[in-house]
Amino acid sequence: MAGDWIRTVTAQTPTNIAVIKYWGKRDENLILPVNDSISVTLDPAHLCTTTTVAVSPGFDQDRMWLNGKEISLSGGRYQNCLREIRARAAEVEDKERGIKIAKDDWQKLHVHIASYNNFPTAAGLASSAAGFACLVFALAKLMNAKEDHSQLSAIARQGSGSACRSLYGGFVKWIMGKEENGSDSLAVQLVDEKHWDDLVIIIAVVSSRQKETSSTTGMRDTVETSLLLQHRAKEVVPKRVVKMEDAIQKHDFASFAQLTCADSNQFHAVCLDTCPPIFYMNDTSHRIISCVEKWNRSEETPQVAYTFDAGPNAVLIARNRKTAALLLQRLLYFFPPSSDTDMSSYVLGDKSILKDAGIQGINDVEALPPPPEIKDNVPPPRNRGEVSYFICTRPGRGPVLLSDESLALLDPSTGLPK
Ligand code: ADP
Ligand code: DP6
Repeated sequence: MAGDWIRTVTAQTPTNIAVIKYWGKRDENLILPVNDSISVTLDPAHLCTTTTVAVSPGFDQDRMWLNGKEISLSGGRYQNCLREIRARAAEVEDKERGIKIAKDDWQKLHVHIASYNNFPTAAGLASSAAGFACLVFALAKLMNAKEDHSQLSAIARQGSGSACRSLYGGFVKWIMGKEENGSDSLAVQLVDEKHWDDLVIIIAVVSSRQKETSSTTGMRDTVETSLLLQHRAKEVVPKRVVKMEDAIQKHDFASFAQLTCADSNQFHAVCLDTCPPIFYMNDTSHRIISCVEKWNRSEETPQVAYTFDAGPNAVLIARNRKTAALLLQRLLYFFPPSSDTDMSSYVLGDKSILKDAGIQGINDVEALPPPPEIKDNVPPPRNRGEVSYFICTRPGRGPVLLSDESLALLDPSTGLPK
């Protein structure tokens, strides 16, 4: 270890949304859950984190920049991830650049980390999941840790529970594990993103003024006060996980939708059973549920599943592209943008769904008829401005390394943000 070299690694990691929810810890520090959970990874083209990590003998402390602003790494969750990866670091040799780092050197060397989320941070879109997964994945590559994705997921879990599921694409299960030290509480891939690739996901980012209770605080209160949570974790989720795995394997959308909606609703019921009660969904969330329920009931078989995390945003999973276009028409009927919004900033992500829905501009939205399943004589109200925007996406792949130097967030000559 000599000279003033800088070695960097850049990675990109997706976010994920649970269809069987994690809610409640049996160990707060190690982040061990009270039940298994299952998620779908979202396409990183629309929602992802990019993180560059760098090491140099010239760095005198660990530092991190999130979305361009320096943040403190002193929190327990960052420290746990850094310590666990450092403990697994191995020798690195880059003969071309004359860099040699021995295993023990990693305990003395400091790292710089720069991370960027291509979607809003701390807005209920699981930036913490993509963020901690990307941090652990990038550090593991930098430090040449030999751990596989499942072993890395057990480290990402200590940053944020849901982060462990972002180490894989497709559908992913977080096995709660039994060991006290958490070594068997990790994520495994159920199927990759190609297995069920006709699914389309539309996220409704719901305008919300109120400050929500964080997942961490909320689930702590639930564990301390809700009897319903104990019933859910012991009796309901274990059976649901088996059925959900089966539905995913068989592309059985009807069962998938029924289980996804039921689990989201039970998670929110558990929040209501908490003392003091926690309200994550708002009136707009309820209106979205009612729109989907009415439509599903008017069809022979469900067309769309809905799920809500610790906030009012709806994640809607449509059976296929055709259904997604019909869903978007319904959503735009009930939740048109305020008149001065242009459609390209109202529907983000995969815009081809907007085209399939026959919407080119705001005039097409204004002209949409009420959905046929609404049998009232009076047209139902249109709730202008209640949704901030929609994101159209699909199931996506797991973490990747980015070798293109131009995508790195740290300058390779200074180790500081570009
Ligand atoms: P969200 O709903 O977006 O997950 P949270 O409030 O639960 O919001 O988590 C936000 C926190 O997650 C941030 O304050 C930060 O600590 C962490 N986080 C977000 N993005 C990243 C990132 N790219 N890298 C590392 N940590 C991140
Ligand atoms: C409702 O993973 O954010 O999104 O482990 O305390 O960081 P911590 O909590 P977090 O909780 C996620 C809760 C959820 C459901 C889920 O993702 O399974």
